Amino acid sequence: MSPVPKRGLVAVTGAAGFIGGWVVRQLLDAGYRVRACVRNPEDAERTAFLKAMPGFASGRLTLHAADLDQPGCFDDIFKGCNGVLHLSHVSDYKDQAYVKFVCDHVIASVNASGSVTRVVLTSSIAAVMSESDMQEVVRRPVFYEDRFPDETNPRRSPERGQGYSMGKVLAERAFSDAAQASGRWDAITCCPGDNVGPIQSAHQKDFGPWQRLIMKMLEGHCEQTGAYRPWMTVDVRDTAAAHIGLMESTEVLNGERYIAWSTETRKVEDICADIDRLLPELRHDTPTVSDDFPDRIRAREAELRAIWAGCDLRNDRIRDRLGMRFRPLDESLRDCVESLISVAGVQPRRRA
Ligand SMILES: NC(=O)c1ccc[n+]([C@@H]2O[C@H](COP(=O)([O-])OP(=O)(O)OC[C@H]3O[C@@H](n4cnc5c(N)ncnc54)[C@H](OP(=O)(O)O)[C@@H]3O)[C@@H](O)[C@H]2O)c1
Repeated sequence: MSPVPKRGLVAVTGAAGFIGGWVVRQLLDAGYRVRACVRNPEDAERTAFLKAMPGFASGRLTLHAADLDQPGCFDDIFKGCNGVLHLSHVSDYKDQAYVKFVCDHVIASVNASGSVTRVVLTSSIAAVMSESDMQEVVRRPVFYEDRFPDETNPRRSPERGQGYSMGKVLAERAFSDAAQASGRWDAITCCPGDNVGPIQSAHQKDFGPWQRLIMKMLEGHCEQTGAYRPWMTVDVRDTAAAHIGLMESTEVLNGERYIAWSTETRKVEDICADIDRLLPELRHDTPTVSDDFPDRIRAREAELRAIWAGCDLRNDRIRDRLGMRFRPLDESLRDCVESLISVAGVQPRRRA
């Protein structure tokens, strides 16, 4: 299908979110016209930063109310759009039937638009590597674009914490199958890693979860994360650029997925200590890391760390197709910390 024309009209779901907000800003910077979909355009806490963007003043950026739980909510918004960047979360990843219901009605709006030629769907590295059994990571340690979690494992269920990963895989297939069937548009998947970088609005400090964890570090609390998995990061601005690049590319194909991460990894304890290394002026009082995992996980700490250390993170496809270069984590972390303080008023705990 054809890529979205330069300066065309693009709808962005989840536009008030951490990644969505950067997608909107970069689309405007690149000359596009943008329909930003939010649940409540009148919610100043979540939307004032969008309305402060210069494109809003001219009308090149418009805000639209859409709640994914309401079928048909995108019918009017997608009409006339050339592309859709579908970044929104859903309300409940545990309920796979609900996730499918949401996919189906968003797809119906794309089909009904008569104008959309490309959808970029935001999935996650969870849909690449979230395993119910860590031995599967030992067996298949290369995290590349066509890897999926072991779907034959009977323990892979929402009840056992796999709802997010399962919901993302379901959505990827729903969109690429529907695009194939329509023959009028294509669906490209972007799987971002752990997003770190500057927030643009104070409300975004509470989400992520990566910026929320960095906020807690600043305030003096650092907890072990993800069964000792190191953070596998990407700058939020690079994730946004990846979405726009995939929307514009003449080389991508329906059903293809692209991983957006820099392939840089860092342990949570090092990230916490790095705040002081990167911003010594802050005199951050680096907290010690607390480990609240249950005993059965703590007993496996050395084993789990070794498994993660043996993983091979790849991003060949997005670098080859889009020529993407990723920011170093140091830059993302520095900018995240500074934005948490300057945008959200976070008060760091400082050494005397
Ligand atoms: N952050 C990461 O590290 C990361 C990593 C991999 C993948 N992702 C994926 O990237 C996407 C964006 O993540 P993010 O970190 O930017 O999330 P975020 O900051 O929490 O923003 C998500 C947005 O989803 C919207 N939303 C949630 N439920 C909705 C519903 N029922 N109807 C309409 N909108 C709804 C919210 O809209 P309102 O503000 O309008 O209420 C919110 O702004 C998600 O699909 C996520 O799975 C994120």
